[in-house]
Amino acid sequence: MKKRISFFVPLLVGLLGCGDSQPGPDQMQALASGYGLYETHCLNCHGQEGEGLANLIPPLKNSDWILQHPDSVPYIIRHGKQGPMLVNGKRYSLAMPANKILTNEELQMLCNYIRIRFGNAGK
Ligand code: HEC
Repeated sequence: MKKRISFFVPLLVGLLGCGDSQPGPDQMQALASGYGLYETHCLNCHGQEGEGLANLIPPLKNSDWILQHPDSVPYIIRHGKQGPMLVNGKRYSLAMPANKILTNEELQMLCNYIRIRFGNAGK
């Protein structure tokens, strides 16, 4: 586990290097823990940079839906979501499948990851 983190930290510093503020230790930890989970469970649909896919999959990056419904994020990951929904002014109508595999702790890590990594931290 230690080895994994020491690999991720420089990577994450690189990823975040272009932002205005440097991430603190808590944020670094959240990013390191969420990275693999995102890759395994979400990346195929929502993309490497959370950019989504055309008119099919909504973006996670700078998503107004996440900003407006921060408490619904763990819920839709766990239970899925039947379309339609409006994200950044665009309408999406596919369904997102429920994820029953993630533990509650992993769910929490993923939510933190999405907030920090994709600019959804809000105010
Ligand atoms: C099989 C493809 C698929 C997978 C895998 C998937 N999603 Fe989604 N996701 C969707 C679709 C499609 C929607 C839009 C659902 C709708 O229209 O109601 C969506 C919507 C969302 C939204 C709300 C809209 C937005 O873009 O802000 C969030 C947040 C989200 N997904 C997070 C995740 C996370 C985190 C994971 C990994 C645990 C994940 N999704 C895995 C397809 C997927």
